[in-house]
Amino acid sequence: MSNADYDVCVVGLGYVGVTLTAALLKTGKSVLGYEYNKAVAEDLDAGVLQLAEPGVEEVIRESGGSRLRVTSELGAGPLPPVVIICVGTPIEAGGTDPDLRHLRAAVETIAEGIDERTLVIVRSTVPVGTTRKLVLPLLRRKVADPLVAFCPERTIQGKALDELLSLPQIVGGINDEAVRRATELFASQTPTVVPVSSVEAAEMIKLICNCHTDLIYGFGNEVALMAEKLGLDAVELIKSANFGYPRPDLSLPGFVGGSCLTKDPYLLMYALRPHDHTPGMIAAARQLNESLPRRIGERVLAALWERGCDPAGARVLVSGFAYKGQPETDDLRGAAYEGLLELLRGRVGEIVGHDFAVPRERITALGVRAVDLAEGFEGAHAAVVLNNHLSYRDQDLDALVATMQPPAVVYDTWRVLPATSNVMRLGHA
Ligand SMILES: NC(=O)c1ccc[n+]([C@@H]2O[C@H](COP(=O)([O-])OP(=O)(O)OC[C@H]3O[C@@H](n4cnc5c(N)ncnc54)[C@H](O)[C@@H]3O)[C@@H](O)[C@H]2O)c1
Repeated sequence: MSNADYDVCVVGLGYVGVTLTAALLKTGKSVLGYEYNKAVAEDLDAGVLQLAEPGVEEVIRESGGSRLRVTSELGAGPLPPVVIICVGTPIEAGGTDPDLRHLRAAVETIAEGIDERTLVIVRSTVPVGTTRKLVLPLLRRKVADPLVAFCPERTIQGKALDELLSLPQIVGGINDEAVRRATELFASQTPTVVPVSSVEAAEMIKLICNCHTDLIYGFGNEVALMAEKLGLDAVELIKSANFGYPRPDLSLPGFVGGSCLTKDPYLLMYALRPHDHTPGMIAAARQLNESLPRRIGERVLAALWERGCDPAGARVLVSGFAYKGQPETDDLRGAAYEGLLELLRGRVGEIVGHDFAVPRERITALGVRAVDLAEGFEGAHAAVVLNNHLSYRDQDLDALVATMQPPAVVYDTWRVLPATSNVMRLGHA
């Protein structure tokens, strides 16, 4: 099959591209995957997934060789009638501005293979205005009147494939034909398509969804910080407030992580900068949520001193590196360990690390000695649990804590451990 014979070309096969590919395959489409990381492309072409996302590997494996080809060299010649761009749009290292280099490069590459009938869909999350001001002009260098749509990805990692086949799909197009074509594509995948008036509206919808999530979790964290000061238990407050009461649905405290929630507020703030507007609530929620891992680190250090232990000689177990425990993921992006390690490094004797879903070598690559849970607890002066993976339930955590160096400090962010007097908890004095 030549490139043009496939129904869809998916560009960038990370979490978003690979799950979308699986959803397209499930609905009978044939997919040409273009992933410039050779190792990832070769693995996918052989049916091997380098990331954890339920149900996806099976679909990829079943379709490989017939309805799916993944390549790291797109070559010359026409592309399929639909091209969907799913490359990363991170924040610049050390800053808060978006790094759109991957998007620019992807658009320049595919521009070589499109014509005026090719529908180019941007699925990467972008600052409002990017599709019209960056993508469209790059495509116009090759095609006078390109067909472009912005169709955001709004699934949750760990359930992405199910949600791709069920969640409403927002569609914004550069013109009516782009909206019609994109609607036709997604209508074969999900029961509800929501066309909106412009690409900018679709770009903004994606961003306000994630900013809202950041805000509501931020409020739970604000309650936690206030409760700690007032000697109250935030979880008791929130659960009691919510019990049988329809307004409001207060969120429990916890980390806000992952690649999207930690950067999308910055993409929205960036888009508003030329308009001389700072969305204060969004900025404040982000700042608070980002500060949480460091605050927890500070509490652990203070607790070690209170127990007569100089942190410089302490061994600290950090358990739960993935940014969330449920649904299970091995994704480390935007995870709480980053801020915590930043704070603890150089202040404690040794940090050892454990996670139920993240392979040991990836923990070692972070400069932390990887251990199993029992090994990590044994003899440690402090332990910090950073996510709520279901496997904690299968452990005798009381017994593990008993193997620590007394008087041990235990910080249990997600309340996975039995409540004993020496366990510190987020939102509890
Ligand atoms: N991860 C999520 O759950 C999620 C959810 C919604 C939206 N998004 C957005 O979707 C986009 C992709 O997210 P992701 O998590 O899949 O990112 P990712 O970094 O996991 O994957 C991107 C992939 O694109 C490849 N790539 C980069 N530039 C390329 C190029 N020029 N040509 C070919 N391949 C290229 C990379 O090698 C990588 O494999 C981002 O904009 C993100 O904000 C992600």
